[in-house]
Amino acid sequence: MIKASQYILALDLGTTGNRAILFNKQGNIVGQIYHELTQYYPQPGWLEHDATQIWQDTCSCIKQVISETGIEAQEIAAIGLTVQRETCLLWDKITGEPLHKAIVWQDRRTADMCDRLKQEGYSNTIQQKTGLILDAYFSATKLAWLIDWAKQNKPDTNWDNVIAGTVDSWVLWNLTGGKVHATDSSSASRTMLMNLDNGNWDRQLLDLFNIPDSLMPKIQPSMGLFGTTDSQLLGAEIPITAIFGDQQAALFAHGCDRPGLLKCTYGTGSFLVAQAGTNVARSNNQLLSTVAWSTKDTTNYALEGAIFTTGACIQWLRDGIRLISNAAETDALASAVPSSNGVYFVPALSGLGAPHWNMNARGAFLGITGGVSKEHLVRAVLEAIAYQVKEVIEAVNKDSEHPVSLLKVDGGATRNNFLMQFQADALGIPVERPKILDATAQGAAFGAGLAIGFWDDYQSLINNREIDRVFEPGAGQEQAQANFIPWSQAVAKVL
Ligand code: G3P
Repeated sequence: MIKASQYILALDLGTTGNRAILFNKQGNIVGQIYHELTQYYPQPGWLEHDATQIWQDTCSCIKQVISETGIEAQEIAAIGLTVQRETCLLWDKITGEPLHKAIVWQDRRTADMCDRLKQEGYSNTIQQKTGLILDAYFSATKLAWLIDWAKQNKPDTNWDNVIAGTVDSWVLWNLTGGKVHATDSSSASRTMLMNLDNGNWDRQLLDLFNIPDSLMPKIQPSMGLFGTTDSQLLGAEIPITAIFGDQQAALFAHGCDRPGLLKCTYGTGSFLVAQAGTNVARSNNQLLSTVAWSTKDTTNYALEGAIFTTGACIQWLRDGIRLISNAAETDALASAVPSSNGVYFVPALSGLGAPHWNMNARGAFLGITGGVSKEHLVRAVLEAIAYQVKEVIEAVNKDSEHPVSLLKVDGGATRNNFLMQFQADALGIPVERPKILDATAQGAAFGAGLAIGFWDDYQSLINNREIDRVFEPGAGQEQAQANFIPWSQAVAKVL
């Protein structure tokens, strides 16, 4: 007997790990599997991922979540895909082999190329066309580097067989057994190759970066049919009906569908995204203009402050300098001291994103004296995460008539109560944490389910989401806000 489709599968493929999550009709999580992803640092400032590992881990997460929840693949109504953005690769469509490891969004190897383009006067054209600030963060210079590398190191490459894409395109292509080479407009808007006004690859920019358009995936709406899974993969042809960049997916999950609503996701970095409605919004304060999501009828846009290092600094405390043994410890360590004892941390581990956009800035601890302990250093790192968000909120406030009055948050680091309370204190506004912290996956699931009619009402999905806790600004407010000034001065020292 064929069982009715009762689940939506969300694939959340992030920078530090890949996850498959099953959602039921009530929008609740019924099972999830996570695999940490290997990070390759071939040179200082460079970061690569093995795209084959991303695909293999995606498959094993899917198969494991299906077997551990005891469901059958036929019971999955649709798949929603949400991924780390900007990370990109080239692969051979005949062999399915990547030509090189994927270059990750945090990778700074093309900073010189960006500087050259700035000197040649391209910053304004690029910003006007793509809504982005010319920076090594985005895919365009990374793809240019990969093409150049392959031309030099793999001269026998048959370029008729090579295709390019961000991680969503790579995984979609594999899920569909090599049949579909596509992306969605929210992901495409992060490549620095898509024209924000018309939603197409921009001819002039493809030429500028020497990227043949035959390499590029087709840009589709975020919600709608992309293809079906190859029947060999799971024994069922499951439709893939949503693709979102992970930050845009979280915006969708939070119900931020009108101007004035915004969220911040604390993942590898922190990404504050403000819904701008159905017209492209432009910032005067170093925020990015981007696509929030699209359907076949409408496109929603957003303004974004992209902060590069959040979970990444906690991971560095754990794996880099081994000051802690797990991320959760930082909550108690930071709470154990009344202040950072005059220590300020500049989290420029991969340069600085919004609002500074400085690719060459490097991290620093400042203000260390003999009385400084591990607790103070950890507290300074958490405070810096919150202060970076404060900088971006200030930019959003300058761009808008109405100051932000509530911050909706999600992502792994929001489990940290110290960080959330300090964030509310530093901003002087409440911080609202939902029960399901995986808003990126939840947004992809909502999109996929709505696109296929599994759910029919976005608002009721949003209304059913539960809030875990609201952090109100408290007794620490005065100190947290006063210390923002010396912290900003510390940042200015590395610029
Ligand atoms: O732009 C990069 C962003 O999409 C990465 O997201 O969740 O891996 O921190 P995450």
